[in-house]
Amino acid sequence: MAIDENKLQELMGRMLGDVGAAMGTALVLLGDKFGYYKTLATEGPMTSAELASKTGTVERYVREWAAGQAAAGYINYDAGSGRFSMSPEQALLLADENGPAFFPGMFEIAAAAIRDEPKVANAFQHGGGVGWHEHDACLFRGTERFFRPGYAMHLVSEWIPALDGVREKLERGARVADVGCGHGASVILMAKAFPKSKFFGFDYHQPSIDRARERAREAGVSDRATFERATAKDYPGTYDLVAFFDCLHDMGDPVGAAAHVKSSLARDGTWMLVEPFANERLEDNLNPIGRVFYAASTTICVPGSLSQEVGLGLGTQAGESRLREVLKAGGFTRVRRATATPFNLVLEARP
Ligand SMILES: C[S@@+](CC[C@H](N)C(=O)[O-])C[C@H]1O[C@@H](n2cnc3c(N)ncnc32)[C@H](O)[C@@H]1O
Repeated sequence: MAIDENKLQELMGRMLGDVGAAMGTALVLLGDKFGYYKTLATEGPMTSAELASKTGTVERYVREWAAGQAAAGYINYDAGSGRFSMSPEQALLLADENGPAFFPGMFEIAAAAIRDEPKVANAFQHGGGVGWHEHDACLFRGTERFFRPGYAMHLVSEWIPALDGVREKLERGARVADVGCGHGASVILMAKAFPKSKFFGFDYHQPSIDRARERAREAGVSDRATFERATAKDYPGTYDLVAFFDCLHDMGDPVGAAAHVKSSLARDGTWMLVEPFANERLEDNLNPIGRVFYAASTTICVPGSLSQEVGLGLGTQAGESRLREVLKAGGFTRVRRATATPFNLVLEARP
């Protein structure tokens, strides 16, 4: 087969960029850990010596890190002064933890995918799965830090109002379960917005429950937000709203979970299901977002699902029709797409 030189050059160029990004994962983790981005964003421009001194780290390493990050375009270098700095756009993505688009959390998730590859490789060969709890802890922290900004932007202002009559119930005072709640970011946002309601976070992963309790205390909402270890098929109580954020596809038995949600809803209750956005057909997901989601799905979500009972392995890119089939099999007859963002599908399901 003849090699097309132009196609080869184009693909090599892309792969070089990808290898640079993959190698750079460690650099982003370091920049985040030692506060290099935050220091440059708030106090830059500065030399590597000044950055090292402000952060109490070793100059020779900081100099190499800064050169690599300037080559990536994540920070800027001024050859005249020998100083490094960050533009407002770079700062927004790398230094603003509470902003709308903070990326270091996603790099922590990428780091978990690389660190845990041997466990996943074993499952590829011998079957079985890798439970959420078996991953490097940077996955749990990265998930909270990456997902929280999107929830802060959309959950209270767009997603809840898109559900039929739910905002009014929460304003009056309702009972809400957040299942697969992780570190509780979504629970805390809702508890702050709706002080008359009671929120119950459930997750099968005890360290996440411990962290969620801590975060709720820090946020001053412990009086109305409590957290308990439970699975999606055995959490207790009856609720006006049950919410699942980015976790149904991680479960081995999403149909069983759906059936349990149905039995836990109060009369006229609602299930809000938030899942990663996906088009219906594989060929329509071959884009940068699909690339990230399929990679996470291969290394984290499918192994997680295959580690649990049933092991359905929905994957992050199941698509709306497949999700509707799961909800229907669990006993939900009225399902509608409430809203969507480029990253999330929000479904409203009622029995
Ligand atoms: C991708 S994380 C999402 C966490 C959180 N909802 C968020 O959006 O930040 C998936 C979560 O589902 C939880 N999980 C997986 N299987 C579960 C099950 N069968 N029952 C309850 N929680 C489960 C994991 O422990 C993990 O915290």
